[in-house]
Amino acid sequence: MPQKFNYIDFSNSITSMPRKSASLSKDRYISNEFMELEWEGIWTKTWLFAGIVSDLAEVGDFFVYDIGRESIVVTRNEEMKISAFYNVCQHRGNKIVTIESGSFNKVSCPYHGWTYSLNGRLEHVPDRELFEGGVPCEKHSLKPVRVSIWAGLIFINMDEKSSSLETFLGPIIDQLKPYKFEKMNLVKHQTVSLLETNWKTVRDNFLEQYHVDFIHPQHASFVDCCDAENDLWPFGHTRTMVTSPVVNPRYSMPDEPPEFMQDYLRGLRLNPDDFHGKVPEIRKAIQKQKRIIGKELGFDFSEFSDDQVSDVLQYDIFPNIFMTIHPERLWIFGPKPHKSDPNKCSFTKWSFQIPSELVRDEKKGLELLPGSSYYDQTGFRPEHDIFTREDVVEGRKSFTITIDQDIHYLNDMQAGMHSKGFDSALLSKDEERLQHFHDWVDDWIRKDSLWSSLD
Ligand code: FES
Ligand SMILES: [Fe+2]
Repeated sequence: MPQKFNYIDFSNSITSMPRKSASLSKDRYISNEFMELEWEGIWTKTWLFAGIVSDLAEVGDFFVYDIGRESIVVTRNEEMKISAFYNVCQHRGNKIVTIESGSFNKVSCPYHGWTYSLNGRLEHVPDRELFEGGVPCEKHSLKPVRVSIWAGLIFINMDEKSSSLETFLGPIIDQLKPYKFEKMNLVKHQTVSLLETNWKTVRDNFLEQYHVDFIHPQHASFVDCCDAENDLWPFGHTRTMVTSPVVNPRYSMPDEPPEFMQDYLRGLRLNPDDFHGKVPEIRKAIQKQKRIIGKELGFDFSEFSDDQVSDVLQYDIFPNIFMTIHPERLWIFGPKPHKSDPNKCSFTKWSFQIPSELVRDEKKGLELLPGSSYYDQTGFRPEHDIFTREDVVEGRKSFTITIDQDIHYLNDMQAGMHSKGFDSALLSKDEERLQHFHDWVDDWIRKDSLWSSLD
């Protein structure tokens, strides 16, 4: 059975109808010219996921979000509002904040000591009398960057004329309301510091399931990628829904539950022997059992459909993140382009989970996330763990086995793009989300009035 693709519009003036116009010639992955077009049309024009609200709990907490040639400081100001400004001093352009995160009362430039409030207003200029005519503070505030918050996630936008984040995300906001991401805790924060691949090669990898049979053979015994249902939205966002746990119908149905399902069943206090000859019944049984265990642990599944309780749901938010979502946990993945080399990017995973007591009670032997998708919660923010691709390939670090397998292949994709023996990609029907993403890459690049048609 082929996958299903639904093109959904949520705005009168912007359509998601299939265009299939973007040519996937290798230039878009390897050329500096295309990288520059993306900088002007995408990175400085769209809403970008930059970090999380829980990292800015107190007044003065900040983190730095570096993207391309820009560095942006995101902070909680005296009015308890989250605001952002370019990380550049208005005296002579020095970069002000040089650490990833922390807390400050004032923002002070290390070069000559110009000092700004948490709102970015210039408050102190050493030896002010040396400046002929004085220094009008109101004219030399740090330059603001737009910020918007959705479900505990912080987005920034460098385009003053952009529409709101709400307009950009459309129905995604309502669809994901039941998950209450803002109540989940960050349990892991990991980055592969350098992949020798274009950022879109990472996005591409997660925008199709055509590769799954080949590089993720273990998936055959717990997901049905052949019949995935996909939604494609304006602005380049997409969603895929994959039923789980099921045996991929391309393979013969075993009498006994496959090993992964056995562990899953045991973890949820179900007996794998009860499913001899009844493997297709496992998904429904798990949906039912999760609701029962959820009740005992105090986690309410009532707002979720049965599909949402068990299946794999992935939302791809244009341009910089995709999210795999379950009621009990959220994983956000984001490739970030290198600041000057189209052949390089970093790749980050943020893992969130509902509070420990709702997900596991060891005394009672209850758990909602059996196996490797459960992470311990310490009550503290996990350190940002930054490591190399080799750490992943050689098994010292992991994003989960499936993603590690993807990471293993990505450098080879980029290397092939440089060959005289390759010109451009040819896409299958099942790679339509990928095509949609690239159509919107082109739209953002070519139409500098994309926002103005909306407001
Ligand atoms: S460049 Fe910042 S105070 Fe001079
Ligand atoms: Fe994959």
